[in-house]
Amino acid sequence: MSRVLTGIQSSGKPHLGNLLGAILPAIELADSQEEPAFLFIADLHALTTIRNPEVLRENTYAVAATWLACGLNPEKHVFFRQSDVPEVTELAWYLSCLTPYPMLANAHSFKEKSANLAEISAGLFTYPVLMAADILLYNAELIPVGKDQQQHLEITRDIAGAFNRTYGEIFKLPQGIFQEKTMVLPGIDGRKMSKSYGNTLDVLGDLDELLRRIKRIKTDSTPVEMPKNPETCTVFQLYASVAPPDAVAEMRKRYTEGGYGYSQAKEALYEVMRHRFAKEREAYAQWRADTTTLEQVLQRGAEKARAEAVKTLAKVRRAIGLEGIDKRSR
Ligand code: ADP
Ligand code: TRP
Repeated sequence: MSRVLTGIQSSGKPHLGNLLGAILPAIELADSQEEPAFLFIADLHALTTIRNPEVLRENTYAVAATWLACGLNPEKHVFFRQSDVPEVTELAWYLSCLTPYPMLANAHSFKEKSANLAEISAGLFTYPVLMAADILLYNAELIPVGKDQQQHLEITRDIAGAFNRTYGEIFKLPQGIFQEKTMVLPGIDGRKMSKSYGNTLDVLGDLDELLRRIKRIKTDSTPVEMPKNPETCTVFQLYASVAPPDAVAEMRKRYTEGGYGYSQAKEALYEVMRHRFAKEREAYAQWRADTTTLEQVLQRGAEKARAEAVKTLAKVRRAIGLEGIDKRSR
């Protein structure tokens, strides 16, 4: 019996990559364990990119509604907003004091993100330490995430190991569970689908908009009659991520035979997205329209998460020699 934990940043509306790479597999893994999973909305992490309070609030509700629409059961699992458990920032500080500077400076994700920014904040730099705190605060063991988070998981294990060697065995070393099947899903411009590139497909939102975005997917200029390479085509890759295997085999055949145009492939892609997520799209609209209930669900989750967080922090403070703080009432 293992504790599953994962978080999704509220840095935008969740997209197909988030659903296939994170939300759906996390729910499946969570449901497969007897123990409740810890699933949260990483709004503190989102502060590294979002500075508009209205937008942050909107995104947080959009992410919450997406999890619930995708079938997360908030009665069984602990579903909460990261910032509702302020203990996580306290643990992040303790961990940061054991984190070697070069480990953060060399992280791919930091190098990549900072290369695209005019201004680089300390928060962006210490992002992996807050992520380690998210995981270690709740003694989580199985962490389902996309491949792009692998290095962050290694950093978490390194920090936990350093803590245990310095102060005694307090933390379990978590294990990343990576989605092999979807790998890194491409966005409509062929790069990794990501909120930060504005190349996403929002499969739970408005269908007309979905169709418009699918029509904009970048393809090469191979004429309709010529054979096409499915492996290098974004439309095919997206189709293959959702369609049943026999339909994928059929589309592969059409690509390699020729006489099949990209616009036909895009129509097929739209249809498969429309059907596959019909139930979730309806549930999403309902949750999104009722923020009062959403807020109640999140508050109940936060209470459960905090109860656990307070226990871990008491142990940590004792281990590192901050005895006095233990006596203050929380
Ligand atoms: P974004 O890149 O859009 O900001 P996040 O970094 O918030 O997305 O990712 C949330 C989760 O979704 C992570 O576990 C991540 O690995 C997964 N994920 C994000 N984009 C993709 C993608 N294009 N393909 C597969 N998984 C993805
Ligand atoms: N950094 C993760 C992402 O961008 C989100 C995240 C924050 C997370 N804290 C976490 C994922 C803890 C797993 C566990 O995808």
